[in-house]
Amino acid sequence: MPELSVAIVAADPEQRAVLQVLVDGTSVAHAVLSTQNLPMTPADATIAKLRGTAAEVILVDIPGDNSAAALQALELLHQELPQAALFAIGGLTQPHVIVTAMRAGAREYLERPTTTSDLLEAFVRLASAQRKIRREETRGRVFTVVNAKGGCGATTIAVNLALALQSSHGNTALADLAPLGHAALHLKLKPQFTVTDAVTNLHRLDTSLLESYVTRHESGLHLLAGASTPAAAADLTAAEFARLFDTMVSHYKYVVVDASSRLDGIARLVCNLSEVVILVATTDVAALWSASRVVQYLGESGARERFRLLLNRYRKIPGFSDADAETAAGAKLLGHIPNNYVAASTAIDRGTPMIQSNHSDLARAFTQMVATLTANDDVNPRPAWSLFRTT
Ligand SMILES: Nc1ncnc2c1ncn2[C@@H]1O[C@H](COP(=O)(O)OP(=O)(O)OP(=O)(O)O)[C@@H](O)[C@H]1O
Ligand SMILES: [Mg+2]
Repeated sequence: MPELSVAIVAADPEQRAVLQVLVDGTSVAHAVLSTQNLPMTPADATIAKLRGTAAEVILVDIPGDNSAAALQALELLHQELPQAALFAIGGLTQPHVIVTAMRAGAREYLERPTTTSDLLEAFVRLASAQRKIRREETRGRVFTVVNAKGGCGATTIAVNLALALQSSHGNTALADLAPLGHAALHLKLKPQFTVTDAVTNLHRLDTSLLESYVTRHESGLHLLAGASTPAAAADLTAAEFARLFDTMVSHYKYVVVDASSRLDGIARLVCNLSEVVILVATTDVAALWSASRVVQYLGESGARERFRLLLNRYRKIPGFSDADAETAAGAKLLGHIPNNYVAASTAIDRGTPMIQSNHSDLARAFTQMVATLTANDDVNPRPAWSLFRTT
């Protein structure tokens, strides 16, 4: 079982049982040890036991009525087991407890009662931070394209960006996570399977099975098609998507995600797994206002600094600068895509994306975007991230 190993330290038996269920419920981690003993000295038997399990994460419960012993244990664990990531679980009503826990070495402070999705997000943040440290393995990069507001052009951008990456670097996939998938229409493809099929068969998903769920475009791009009915994706969990993306990045060099106007826990998780989140907006008050709300929501669990603003259907407005747009949206600018309604709508109607037709200004804009996004790729091998150990 290729998962994160987690130890639970909680004096309260009920809380221990709850945490165990929550950890196992993430599907990306499993509990290897659960103990009621808060270690107090380096010679404590609990320290030796924890060392023996080599747990990658230690959850330490901080009860509201007796936080001192748990905080002391946290500090000791930090000293004695520096390789383990410490997650403190406690109430939010006593700020000094939170501050002391973080000072003692906790890398996360999760609110009690905790949920599976809180834990999953914390595990993803950990994996994402580790990829910056571990560089021994080459894995793909994820670029997620999300709309500031419906109709701003996320699908058009995702499809053309994926084709541009495929053309310049090869080995690219486009994953359609929009509430209703339009990417297949943009590419004139008739998929047999969708992302729902891939996620549903996840328990046995490996890269060769993944290949059987994708639809191939003549350019060589692989499409993992989106849901063809709004209800199709409703029951899929964030943990299942985490596993899907883990498989995808082990197979493709680049994975472009069309999230379009999806704003839920799964979109947030995918943003956390992304190298860059491309926020597509038009230069109007409503889109830029929405952009800042989307950054706030999707970036809430750690991805905020990865958002880049892309101004689509761009026309220069006198008196309104790029800096004004950045301030309004709360994200740095990635670039502009020129306004060309005829080219954009003809491309969708015919299923021939814009960069495949003869529009030099549009093609240039996408080439420029790819150059910016991949600037360091050939210099530095891609760092690893995985929630699932394969060895
Ligand atoms: N650069 C552009 N210039 C002019 N029109 C554009 C441009 N990009 C997209 N459009 C137009 O905007 C409309 C929406 O495009 P698209 O379907 O790509 O957007 P979306 O944001 O993914 O939509 P949804 O919210 O339904 O997912 C289409 O009619 C398309 O032709
Ligand atoms: Mg769309």
